[in-house]
Amino acid sequence: MDFRNLNEDIFRVAGEMSEVASYLWQKGWAERNAGNMSVNISEFITPENAAAIANDNPPFYSLPLSLPALAGNYFLVTGTGKRMRDIARDFDHNAILIRVSDDGNGYLLIKYDPSQPNLMPTSELPSHLSIHEQLVTEGKRERTVVHTHPNELVSLTHIRDYCDQEALNNLLWGMHPETMVVVPEGAGFVPYLLTGSLEIAEATLQKFKHHQVVVWEKHGCFAIGKDVFEAFDLIDTLAKSALIYFQCRTAGYQPEGLTQEQLADLKVLSEKFKS
Ligand code: 13P
Ligand code: ZN
Repeated sequence: MDFRNLNEDIFRVAGEMSEVASYLWQKGWAERNAGNMSVNISEFITPENAAAIANDNPPFYSLPLSLPALAGNYFLVTGTGKRMRDIARDFDHNAILIRVSDDGNGYLLIKYDPSQPNLMPTSELPSHLSIHEQLVTEGKRERTVVHTHPNELVSLTHIRDYCDQEALNNLLWGMHPETMVVVPEGAGFVPYLLTGSLEIAEATLQKFKHHQVVVWEKHGCFAIGKDVFEAFDLIDTLAKSALIYFQCRTAGYQPEGLTQEQLADLKVLSEKFKS
């Protein structure tokens, strides 16, 4: 199915998702089908577009959650089991356009390819849509959710001392000044839970009330942004801090880290940037 004919905004969003998919692959964070993305594109669907893309009998799938704030909303989502490197080169055959049903209890496959019955939304859809529901309910500006498996951050969560939100953030902030500036509220931390489950979706949602990035123990992380680039940048910044930590350790040294006073100055700076 050709997503790009709908309108130029959707064409642009699909292009941005493809571009970030290529970054995730190049970073080495996207083995096989690792990672997924979703973008709420409802603001770009005009009544004419909605009529043009309406199918007579779009397949409906119920969800084990209720999404009243998303009723009727449209999302571009990556397909389950699809490779980021394939999404980067051929978005239309590796991603899907869905619409949350009017009762908010499921979704319809709007743009789908009947010749590809296995092209279904990501298995992390419960987490993605719960996060979008919270973003819309709270009137937030973010419209994008990105999930990936950054080696550097996953490695940190194999160290028991850093399976603690405060210790994790203190380490990450201390490795590079930009980390406090870009992610001043730090990452939320979710202890290990089964991937794709409602439990992990619920735990993640709680963390997104106060954070823009959430790290899943021994798995990866989720980030939100106004676009996929913003979400990617948050993950990239945290992953760089983690990499600096491991590079110092690999060289045989315990990194010194920034002092509490230096971090306090950076926090003030980050507040200036925000205002
Ligand atoms: P999907 O292929 O279903 O998107 O799953 C990838 C993944 O990273 C699961 O956490
Ligand atoms: Zn994953």
